[in-house]
Amino acid sequence: MTVAPSKLPVSAEHRGDAFDVDLIRQDFPALNQTVHGYPLAYLDNAASAQRPAAVIDAISHYYSQDHANVHRGVHTLSQRATDAYEAARQKVQQYINAASTCEIVFTSGTTDSINLLAYALGAGIKAGDEIVLSRMEHHSNIVPWQLLCERTGAVLKVVPITERGELEFDTYLSLLGPRTRLVTLAHVSNALGTVNPVADIITAAHEHNVPVLLDGAQAVPHASVDMQELDCDYYSFSGHKMFGPTGIGIFYGKEKLLEKLPPFKGGGEMILAVSFEKTTYNELPYKFEAGTPNIAGAIGLGVAIDYLQDIGMDRIAAYEANLLDYATRAIADVPGVRLIGTAAHKASVISFTVDGIHPHDLGTVLDHQGVAIRTGHHCAMPVMEFFGVPGTARASMAFYNNAADIDQLIEGLRVAIKMFN
Ligand code: ALA
Repeated sequence: MTVAPSKLPVSAEHRGDAFDVDLIRQDFPALNQTVHGYPLAYLDNAASAQRPAAVIDAISHYYSQDHANVHRGVHTLSQRATDAYEAARQKVQQYINAASTCEIVFTSGTTDSINLLAYALGAGIKAGDEIVLSRMEHHSNIVPWQLLCERTGAVLKVVPITERGELEFDTYLSLLGPRTRLVTLAHVSNALGTVNPVADIITAAHEHNVPVLLDGAQAVPHASVDMQELDCDYYSFSGHKMFGPTGIGIFYGKEKLLEKLPPFKGGGEMILAVSFEKTTYNELPYKFEAGTPNIAGAIGLGVAIDYLQDIGMDRIAAYEANLLDYATRAIADVPGVRLIGTAAHKASVISFTVDGIHPHDLGTVLDHQGVAIRTGHHCAMPVMEFFGVPGTARASMAFYNNAADIDQLIEGLRVAIKMFN
């Protein structure tokens, strides 16, 4: 089934006009190139998205005009850098509707954010305490907790998943108990696209007085999230998956919880006073930001947020829902395709295998036709084991993708199938 881009049932609007994906694509320089002689169809957004010229320009402007260290100088450039850095924090606060900027900690990414919490919680965890996570977690939401268990004697309780790639919710409820110290789950699965029922997950955990960390890396690029409405305790995400720079991420925590946590890293910036006898830590959020931060990264992330909000997350979500539907039908129609992850509620991620073709071979053939997808275990080996596959091919979309990208992928799949059969 092939649908011309203009026939895609677009219901959203962009900048007051019809949601014009062609116009949007012009904002992203990396999209406007050919690869192996084909127009680039970039469908690897779950690994890392592209960034609009506004983000690239803001970073360039910062380095060429405003760069100095933050919070450390009375001179003009330091003040400009500090103002821009703190303005970015405010944008993040507003984007996720956190109650205060002191709840927004800049980190290097989701992995860093989760490690921060796993380390900081450690002092309060005892042998036999339990951390609840799920089989669909990214390795970055498994390994830090295994390290915590090794240090403390705590144990992991793993929520199983169904054949569709959804959480077994009743089992989740049964795993919550008096020894549960934290629930830590993906908001959206990077390998399956499943959107988890996070409001119900949080409500159930709170009935046991258990805080919840959500790995939001795959959620924030696709839809708005609201910390206060969710009553979320901790949340983490990365800039580079939401059209911002690499090396910048966010750790969100409720103020009253962050106040109780010890710092993760020690150094400059996270202190108020240091002597050899005693160090007094800085106030939130600086207590968790040791050393010179990724100032340009934070500024770029702020501009990415401006860009997303200019379009509107609701319009992005509506557009992507149509594109996901179109892509799912088109991929499922290709002979020999098995979809991995068919949850009722999905973000725009499609994992699949093709009979008789190793995912890496598929990825290579597709690349030669200008189509960028990710292949492999997607840092989610327990998911692959559950589905009995060494890896999958994964097409992951953003709001700048269009039906032509999907058609190019489908054509590439047909070429690969012919080549290998
Ligand atoms: N976590 C990233 C992915 O899913 C790298 O591809």
